Amino acid sequence: MALRHLISIHDLTAAEVAGLFRLSAEVKAEPAKFHNHLHRKTLGMIFEKSSTRTRVSFEVGMAQMGGHALFLSSRDIQLGRGEPISDTAKVLSRYLDGIMARTFAHQTVTDLAKYGSIPVINGLTDELHPCQSLCDYFTLTEVFGGLDKLRGRKLTYVGDGNNMAHSLMFGASKVGMDVAIASPKGYEVQGKYLELARQDAAAAGTQVIVTNDPREAVAGASAVYTDVWASMGQEQEAQERLRAFQGWTVDSALMAHARPEAVFLHCLPAHRGEEVTAEVADGPQSRIYDEAENRLHIQKAILLWLMGGVEI
Ligand code: CP
Ligand code: NVA
Repeated sequence: MALRHLISIHDLTAAEVAGLFRLSAEVKAEPAKFHNHLHRKTLGMIFEKSSTRTRVSFEVGMAQMGGHALFLSSRDIQLGRGEPISDTAKVLSRYLDGIMARTFAHQTVTDLAKYGSIPVINGLTDELHPCQSLCDYFTLTEVFGGLDKLRGRKLTYVGDGNNMAHSLMFGASKVGMDVAIASPKGYEVQGKYLELARQDAAAAGTQVIVTNDPREAVAGASAVYTDVWASMGQEQEAQERLRAFQGWTVDSALMAHARPEAVFLHCLPAHRGEEVTAEVADGPQSRIYDEAENRLHIQKAILLWLMGGVEI
């Protein structure tokens, strides 16, 4: 198979997303079937930022499939002391079978792919979080009974126009869903990602809606999603953002505008009392722990595809 990366969902075809979902479902139902598929393969995991789910699910996924994952904190490798990304990528390519990286600058991940010669997986950048969004839409296939049951439904994201919002926009058209993004003025999604997502949506016959009105966005939604108001790297803006996002909490009153069968999703970590009330996050519509569990299954499928030679 030609060298492939997972940098953005925009780079995947709808058929590849469907293939990853089929493989994830198989991995989830019959994990033992894949226990030796990554025998003696090693994944290097570069982290410039904190992580619970991404780190643990990739490491456990590699171990369950007979491989090994190396945790490489940028604080401890020479990259953090100024070694060029190009040298890091070329050298790591001589040892490893794949790299997963969580970085601040998106370009760090694209440069790892550009200069290295092994698959690179984006484990979150300031701009995108593709593994999470694939997992989110996979979770919706389980909730609504299959990929074919998603077409025509709407996912609404309420909050900061951040990495999650961008990747959710890209994921929607690949699964035939409409997506609405409601953000306060000044915190909207980036224009370059909106434009690309609109092109994808036009080709797929789906819609991308951006608005400053959360109620309008949630009306008719089958899934309501939110994320923190201050992402990793924005700690110094936290107080200002707390003020700017007043009134943007996803609560039961807002959820009432969605369809009766709507579910609540959140990538986690969550700040109950800020972007979501405890009543919603821990209530009957919430699927946050199924969603978190699915990080493991979807990432095993990604690893099998990129590093294990499994066709999707
Ligand atoms: N959702 C997610 O990526 O979680 P972590 O930051 O814990 O990896
Ligand atoms: N937007 C959040 C997502 C965390 C998984 C952040 O970047 O911190």
